[in-house]
Amino acid sequence: MIKSDLLVIGSGVAGLTLATKMARQRPDLSITVLSKTVDDESNTRYAQGGVAAVWNLEKDSFEKHIADTLDAGDGLCNADAVKAVVYEGPDRVREIIEWGTRFDQHGTEGYDLGREGGHTENRILHYKDLTGWEIQRALLEEASRHSNITVLEHFFAIDLITQHHLGYNVTRVTPGITCYGAYALDKKTGSIETLLARSTVLAAGGAGQIYRQTTNPVIATGDGIAMVYRAKGRIRDMEFVQFHPTSLYNPAAENPSFLISEAVRGYGGVLRTRDGKKFMYRYDERLSLAPRDIVARAIDNEMKIRGDEFVYLDCRHLEEKGFREHFPTIYDKCMSEGINPMKDLIPVVPACHYMCGGVMTDLRGRSSIDRLYAIGECTSTGLHGANRLASNSLLEALVFAHRTAEDLLPRIDGLDLRTDVPDWSAEGTTDPKEMVLITQSTKELKEIMTSYVGIVRSNVRLKRAMDRLHLLSKETEELYTQTTISPQLCELRNLITIAYLVTRSAAMRHESRGLHFTTDYPEKKDHVEETYM
Ligand code: FAD
Ligand code: SIN
Repeated sequence: MIKSDLLVIGSGVAGLTLATKMARQRPDLSITVLSKTVDDESNTRYAQGGVAAVWNLEKDSFEKHIADTLDAGDGLCNADAVKAVVYEGPDRVREIIEWGTRFDQHGTEGYDLGREGGHTENRILHYKDLTGWEIQRALLEEASRHSNITVLEHFFAIDLITQHHLGYNVTRVTPGITCYGAYALDKKTGSIETLLARSTVLAAGGAGQIYRQTTNPVIATGDGIAMVYRAKGRIRDMEFVQFHPTSLYNPAAENPSFLISEAVRGYGGVLRTRDGKKFMYRYDERLSLAPRDIVARAIDNEMKIRGDEFVYLDCRHLEEKGFREHFPTIYDKCMSEGINPMKDLIPVVPACHYMCGGVMTDLRGRSSIDRLYAIGECTSTGLHGANRLASNSLLEALVFAHRTAEDLLPRIDGLDLRTDVPDWSAEGTTDPKEMVLITQSTKELKEIMTSYVGIVRSNVRLKRAMDRLHLLSKETEELYTQTTISPQLCELRNLITIAYLVTRSAAMRHESRGLHFTTDYPEKKDHVEETYM
């Protein structure tokens, strides 16, 4: 048994910010942070474009950032969440600058503010094209200054502990479901530890790995959302899966797909079909800088009409020195693939990028399960609605980590540490004999989601996906009850749960809105509704 005052599941921008804030205010609290692999592997680490925040009040305004966020969200944002993030964002960014995060400067004029799709002003602070890497570095350094934070690497959270583990029947309508911590697999020893805490904060990131092509690293298997669903917590708006318009096309199918930041289009990059023609004018007056749902759908449509596997991003007209200074990682990656961005067209294709839905929280970060908070990409706070505005997610994680800390600080002493929790039982299970059952099912799952629940959906495709998912789920649950727990098996189980939640939510939405487009209901309804699970 590992006892702490606070258990944080996840060491990306959300988890580390929260842990640091709590540790600074309360050096007497013991804070345990879990990372399923190494402490700096996360979606955060790969963020390129930057953090959106209203920085230059002479040109920009909070009202404009709010309007852009609401416009991208296509009628489904919670206006209070949007206002909270936009108004509080700049202070939270200043805080991470104080903790050592570097952002690029523009000569003596202050920060170099980039532009991405859906933004009407330049407001994106960035560190070259490595913003997430820089934030993760600074946060890990800051966290390491606090001796009351313990980061446990290679600790894989399996399930949240609730009354269910104390022998009570817990259903989706049980009132007062409470979280007492989590069971986690120590990957180094193979033992399953019981981690108990007064409060648990879930910061377990995204789920891009449900698709064949994704910009998310292999750790992004939706474990957090799946754990909350199993614990009978509320999940919201899972049909809104964001596909990034421009990942680097690679016939060798890299996992993850390499992202070509939207900031490249903000810098002047232009989309073209394979015969070199511009096409975005047919879809939106904002052209290559329209919000992501529009650009990704336009690319998908062009590829389908023409039978092409990619479109091109044209940067040949851009000035080389500036391009290489802003996008050194993208430049190097392209060159390593034999593409010189200054001379060649860059082949790009949409890839799953961000989960807009997730664990439903209120504006304090509280989930529907008592003592369980959720922050970062695994949540649905109401900020993104039906489509996330570019570079709003790092900002959301910072603001909601702060809000959660504000809520927890006066509360945590009043929460007891429940210790009558039984150890994990592995009775009746044996070591897996055929790993191929797990790897093959994972491949099948990605194929199902890519073919039937992608950028364009229909009733027939969703039904087919659901039928296939039921079979996969049945086989995997059988394996789970018979086999010793492994990260691969847990991840497969979580991926199936996420795929089910996305497909079911998509089937429930009888309209096209934001990131959800279905040929059976191509119009938007007048009446806006959330999908809850
Ligand atoms: P993550 O950073 O993903 O961290 C998740 C953590 O949870 C990890 O430490 C992981 O080990 C841990 N974890 C997960 N499951 C378990 C488990 N079962 N047990 C234990 N630990 C677990 N957003 C922007 O705002 N601007 C950008 O420019 C931008 N660019 C992006 C580029 C790429 C390529 C990608 C993939 C995303 C980008 N995003 C961007 C999105 C943004 O990076 C993420 O939404 C954000 O970083 C998520 O942070 P997080 O802390 O919620 O989760
Ligand atoms: C990008 O750099 O294009 C990604 C930005 C984001 O996902 O917010």
